[in-house]
Amino acid sequence: MSFPATRLRRLRRTDTLRALVRETSLSLDDVVMPLFACPGESVVRPVAGLPGIAQRSVDEIVREAHELTAAGVRAVLLFGIPDSKDADGSGAWDDDGIVQRALRALRAEAPGLTLLTDVCLCEYTEHGHCGTLDGDSVANDETLESLVRTAVSHVEAGADAVCPSDMMDGRVGAIRSALPEVPIVSYAVKYASAFYGPFREVAESAPSFGDRRGYQMDPANAREALQECALDLEEGADVLMVKPALPYLDVIRAVRERFDSPVWAYQVSGEYAMVRAAADAGHLEEHRAALEALTAIKRAGAGTIVTYWAKDLARWL
Ligand code: PBG
Repeated sequence: MSFPATRLRRLRRTDTLRALVRETSLSLDDVVMPLFACPGESVVRPVAGLPGIAQRSVDEIVREAHELTAAGVRAVLLFGIPDSKDADGSGAWDDDGIVQRALRALRAEAPGLTLLTDVCLCEYTEHGHCGTLDGDSVANDETLESLVRTAVSHVEAGADAVCPSDMMDGRVGAIRSALPEVPIVSYAVKYASAFYGPFREVAESAPSFGDRRGYQMDPANAREALQECALDLEEGADVLMVKPALPYLDVIRAVRERFDSPVWAYQVSGEYAMVRAAADAGHLEEHRAALEALTAIKRAGAGTIVTYWAKDLARWL
C-alpha cells in the first residue's frame, strides 16, 4: 500500500508512539568502559586528544570504578601504562605489573564490577609493536607465548575475561589451551586504523617505526573479516569483536548474520575524539551525536559496545 493509505508519519507524532515502535535501544547492560591504569598515587592525567579520559593511578581507578558502578556501568576494559618497557614487553605479564595491581585492587574494592583486560604487548614494548620483533616485523609464534603468559597473569590477578587485541595468528587457541574456563572476547576483526590515534597518546603505545599493517587487517577487506571470525571461533573464542565500529557497520552486520555467538564492537578513540572536537568547537551536540552513533552500531548488529561514552551514557539514558 502506498500514500495516502500508508502514512509513516502517523507513528512519529509523539515521544511515546516513537518509543513503542523503536527497533533498537541502548542500555547500560550493553556498554563497557575503557580505563587506563598508570603508576603512582592520586594521579589523574588527562590527555589532550581524548577529552574526559585520563590515565589514572590504581587508587584513582578504584575511585572511578565506584563512580561507574554507582552510575550503573557494569563492566570495564583495563589497559596499562607501565613504569618501564623492554623489547619483549615483559611488563605485560609481571605479577606486580600495572594491570595486575589494578585488577587486585578492583577485585577487592569494587566486587560488583566485571573486569575485562586488553591482552596485547604494544603498551609494554619499547618499540611499540604488538609483540617480539624479528627484524622489523613481529614474530608471530614467539609472541604467542608472551600473550598466553599475559592472559594467565591477568586471570590470576582477578580478570573475569581476557580480550586479545594483538592480531597474531593463533592467539585465541593458545590462550584457550592455557585457560579452558575463562571467557575470551576476541578482537577478531581489528583493522589497521587511523582512528586509534588518540588511544596511542593515552596508552603511550604508538609504534616507534612503521605501522601495524603487517598484522592488523586491511580496511578494504570484509570477507577476510569472516575468515578471522571463523578461525577465532574454532580456536575457542566466546565473543567476536569488530573494531573500529562506525566506519565498519557493514562488517558488523556481516559478522552478525554469519555467526551465532555474541558480537561486540569497539567504538574507538578517534570516533569519540572526532565528535568531542566538533562539539567543543560548537558544531554539534555531543550527546545527540554520541547516542546516534551508538544506536547505529547496535542497529548494525553489535550486542555490546566498548565506548568512552559509557559513563556519560548513564547520565543521558
Ligand atoms: C592494543 C589496542 C589498541 C586499541 C585497543 N587495543 C591500539 C592499537 O592497536 O594500536 C585502540 C583503541 C582505541 O583507539 O580506542 N593493541
